[in-house]
Amino acid sequence: MAEPPVDGPGGEVAAREPLCAAAELSERGKAHVWDVLQWGRPARAFALRFDGNVVAYLNRCAHVPTEMDWQPGEFLDSDRRWILCSIHGASYEPRDGRCVGGPCGRGRLTAIRVEEEGAQVYWYPSRDIRPVPFDEPVPGSPR
Ligand code: FES
Repeated sequence: MAEPPVDGPGGEVAAREPLCAAAELSERGKAHVWDVLQWGRPARAFALRFDGNVVAYLNRCAHVPTEMDWQPGEFLDSDRRWILCSIHGASYEPRDGRCVGGPCGRGRLTAIRVEEEGAQVYWYPSRDIRPVPFDEPVPGSPR
């Protein structure tokens, strides 16, 4: 019988998932977007590189729970300084997902733990955010 997953300090389960090649994420460039299940429901997440580090969040604005990218994978403002929601202009600090302006108030993005090792980026599923089972289409997913 398989061992149950062990929760980490941030609610991560033990097994990490490969996400993308490290080279895919250029500094303040386009994000890697992928499908996840949050509480068993389809959602999307994104990872981008900022000041050399890879950060990842659920693609869901703290103002209204909707996706934020203005083009697929494009989350940063024209100065490449803030994560900017394309709906009403909420701005977030890319380093920690905290709201820094606009209608997101004291909200923040839901962070996903990622790790870069060698040429590969990995993400850590949690109790709430899980990978989409292999070969299983995400219900309602447009992509
Ligand atoms: S939905 Fe993002 S700012 Fe309103």
